[in-house]
This record gives sequence, structure tokens and C-alpha cells, in this order.
Amino acid sequence: MPDMLTIALSKGRILEETLPLLAQAGIEPAEDISRSRKLIFETTRPDVQLVVIRATDVPTYVQYGAADMGVAGKDVLMEHGAEGVYELMDLKISRCRLMTAAPVQAKPVQGRIKVATKFVNLAKRYYASQGIQADIIKLYGAMELAPLMGLADEIVDIVDTGNTLRANGLEPRALIAQISSRLVVNRASLKMKHTRIQPILDKLQLAVNELEAQRAASQKV
Ligand code: ATP
Ligand code: PRP
Repeated sequence: MPDMLTIALSKGRILEETLPLLAQAGIEPAEDISRSRKLIFETTRPDVQLVVIRATDVPTYVQYGAADMGVAGKDVLMEHGAEGVYELMDLKISRCRLMTAAPVQAKPVQGRIKVATKFVNLAKRYYASQGIQADIIKLYGAMELAPLMGLADEIVDIVDTGNTLRANGLEPRALIAQISSRLVVNRASLKMKHTRIQPILDKLQLAVNELEAQRAASQKV
């Protein structure tokens, strides 16, 4: 169907939190995504399909227009650069912090610092902005291991409860950014498919507001 509206979703925790919001916007997958090996899913709307991909690939699909819209963490968008996409909404899900972390009570490094992270571009920009000379070492996971093995002095990673850091003898240091998932839209799609995208945006915003109100109410109890 040439006039299909395609939404790219990050698999994993963001997917789980995005599906209820999409459902409130009238978009539900026609089958159980978690039980399928498929990558493209029809929805309850014949003109809307979902593609479920790795978080880091979402900005790329949306940038090139292979997907009209997408949901990705702010961390992933900052790392990617997100050129050619509009970040239109904070969905306020998958909230966490992007931080530096180091071994508990480790002394400050004199001279160049070694930093392990999967957020290479972001880390380069952050340390440069602080006037710190840093050698950035790219890893694909388990960043917490790097300081323990002498591979790096510090890491740049996601922190939520802090349990992963604590379990590995590390402590959070500097806050780089507060993170949540964002809705991004391809620039050309927003113009060409505006009449179909705008109502979805409006309904999603209502769903996000409702979720926030529920959270606030549950904190008061
Ligand atoms: P990939 O599998 O592609 O490497 P990933 O393992 O980072 O991606 P997830 O762990 O599902 O994928 O994280 C997706 C997004 O969720 C992250 O980009 C970040 O925005 C957010 N996130 C990551 N860890 C947490 C956490 N512990 N608590 C809350 N949000 C998180
Ligand atoms: C993420 C992140 C941290 C951890 C932080 O990992 O990479 O390791 O969460 O959360 P915490 O502060 O609550 O411990 P995740 O659980 O997604 O596993 P992953 O390494 O497979 O991404």
C-alpha cells in the first residue's frame, strides 16, 4: 500500500511502554508482537503499520523516510544527531539519566581520561564541553565492566535505580542529561501526510497527559 503510514518502534522496554500509548491513539498491532519473529506488523488501522527494530536504528529509518514516525530514547537521538527528523513529543516513558560513573572513591584522573561507552559522539561532545581531554573507547554493552578490568577510568551510561553501578563497585558522578523516549517524525512525511499524522499526535499527547496525571495521583496516595 503506497500511502501506508509507518511507525518505527524500539524493541525492548520502550516497545512495552509505547504500545499502551499507541492503543489510546487507536493503533494496535493485529497480532502479539512479543510472540512473533516478524519485523513488520499490520495494525487495527489498515493505513498504519509498525516496524519493530533496534533502538539505535530508529532515527536512521525516520531520517531517510523509510519510516514516517518513530519512538526512541533521547540518549539514542543525541548520539545519532537525528538530522532530518523533528522531535515532536516527549512521551515521558523509559525515563532514566545519562551519567558518567567511576569506581567508588576513585581519585580524579590527572591528564587524559579513558572513557568506555556506547555513546561515542555524545561522550566526545560532553568531555570537550567540560574542557576535559578524553580518549573514548567504544563498547557495545556491559560498560560497567570496563573500569573493573582496567580498560577505562570512567564510563558514560544509562542510570535508573543505580543498582547496576552499585553491584559493580561504581558510583554515579556527573549528570549529562535527563532521558525519556521521544516521538520523532520525518520532515517530508510531516508535510505530505500531515492530515493523518496530526490526529495521531493529538491523541498521543492526550494519552501522555493522562499517564502523567495517573503517576501524580499514585504518588499522592
Ligand atoms: P540495544 O538492544 O539496541 O543495544 P538497549 O539495550 O539500549 O538497545 P533497552 O535496554 O531496551 O535497549 O533501552 C532502550 C532505551 O530505554 C534506552 O535508549 C534508554 O533511553 C532507555 N533505558 C535504558 N535503560 C533504562 C533503564 N534501566 N531504565 C529506564 N530506561 C532505560
Ligand atoms: C540499562 C543500562 C544500565 C542499567 C541501568 O541496562 O545499560 O546497565 O539499565 O539501570 P539501573 O540503574 O536501574 O541498574 P539494561 O537493563 O537495559 O540491560 P542492557 O545492558 O542489556 O541494555
